[in-house]
Amino acid sequence: MKMRKNVNVFPCELNSTSLSEDDVSKVGLQPIKDWRAFGLHGYPGFIFISNPFLPGSQQFWVKQCLKIYPQKPNVCNLDMHMSSVDTENIWERSIDAIQRKGNRKREPKTLLEKLRWVTLGYHYDWNSKTYSPEHYTPFPKELQSLSHKVAAACGFSEFDAEAGILNYYRSDSSLGIHVDESELDHTRPLLSYSFGQTAVFLLGGTKREDRPTALFMHSGDIMVMSGPSRLHYHAVPCIVPSPAGNVLPPGLCQRLETEVQDEDVIQSVSQEDWDICSWYLQTSRVNVTVRQVLASGQSFPATQTSQMSEEEPQMIKKRKSESGYERDT
Ligand code: OGA
Ligand code: MN
Repeated sequence: MKMRKNVNVFPCELNSTSLSEDDVSKVGLQPIKDWRAFGLHGYPGFIFISNPFLPGSQQFWVKQCLKIYPQKPNVCNLDMHMSSVDTENIWERSIDAIQRKGNRKREPKTLLEKLRWVTLGYHYDWNSKTYSPEHYTPFPKELQSLSHKVAAACGFSEFDAEAGILNYYRSDSSLGIHVDESELDHTRPLLSYSFGQTAVFLLGGTKREDRPTALFMHSGDIMVMSGPSRLHYHAVPCIVPSPAGNVLPPGLCQRLETEVQDEDVIQSVSQEDWDICSWYLQTSRVNVTVRQVLASGQSFPATQTSQMSEEEPQMIKKRKSESGYERDT
């Protein structure tokens, strides 16, 4: 992690006895004792974990984000203006188009390149800025397992992954300043995973005008927002152009060092799938945020239960200035 020199970074003690080496390796993580985790003075509850993934294991998570999570029943931005028949096979249709277009930049963009967001579990409604029990599909088990382990290492052994938002950033994408406050339980952390190109992350304070601290988010880095920092303003102003041109970050070039076992959550990625993932990530970044929506035993208030609106693309634009969740992707 690199940042302005006047900001105090301190090593953060994690709960390294909560999970065995075997437990965390199943989801592709190094032993917790080897993680490099940091806190920031002035941001209580904020934890930055510098790429704790085992060599080669990011590839599995990248494939889930690009090939698997955009599939039904999950919801994505393309569903807002395309029929479900057309958004059914985003991956297959994109492969066909990528292989046909080769390096010609002028061809129409593939669906993969048009992907901006995917929601998982309780699907975030961009319009009403709420979650509702009617708009829920099962949260992916493997991401739940990864998140449960990361949260436990950070001292939150009861974390339940219930909602996820994936953001797909092209080289000119950004994410406006916002607070993630739609979840009903703010005592549980928000986990954020980054893959692919580096981004600048601005961590602000409890007020919109508070001067932020800038951090680089590299591939594999995990950020945990908990305690008071759970409700801090933040934004992603830009993706950092890679100095060497369109190349993959080093952590993504490695293949798995050990054979995967049947009981492992992570599985190896075929060369064919990886070729597409690496083509995409040479110019893109994927961020996954995982949230617990309800406290254990809590249910949605009655007034919130009937919203299932589908947002039109123009609405996203209209919302931009007024909402606390501006997207500029
Ligand atoms: C979000 C978010 C940050 C990022 O999805 O709420 O803040 O690093 N993402 O993309
Ligand atoms: Mn956020």
